Amino acid sequence: MENDKIDWENLRMKAQEAATMAYAPYSNFPVGAAGLTDSGEVVTGCNVENASIGLTLCAECGMISDLHRRKAGRLIAAVASNPEGEALAPCGRCRQILIEAGGKELIVDGPGGPKSIVDLLADPFTVDDLNERDRTNP
Ligand code: THU
Repeated sequence: MENDKIDWENLRMKAQEAATMAYAPYSNFPVGAAGLTDSGEVVTGCNVENASIGLTLCAECGMISDLHRRKAGRLIAAVASNPEGEALAPCGRCRQILIEAGGKELIVDGPGGPKSIVDLLADPFTVDDLNERDRTNP
């Protein structure tokens, strides 16, 4: 889907709503994520922290779990937001998780507006690289 056909306002609102459900007592930094899929569904998630700190689940991870649980298809657009409705840059790990669910066509919102996932994650490692290895190392 073209960037200008995506209802970013609705997606940002869903991410903002999801941020209100975050469990972030250690960072006090609640995050919500929302994604639009090629079946027209909106999937959401929020960050969930842990006393062990390192086991924190980002909002995008929850959203990807929602995507698979609902068999909602391929992600075509995604946004992470704070409870004030400000779009956030996804962390590096989440960029890799997002490209797995959306492929190189995915568009991701952020502080500078929507961008291609390939601009956020240059020269990404994807399933294509695994297939390439199969071909070159029989
Ligand atoms: N966080 C997310 O949920 N997604 C991101 O892409 C960046 C960071 C969360 C993790 C942690 O609970 C809090 O924000 C502060 O880093």
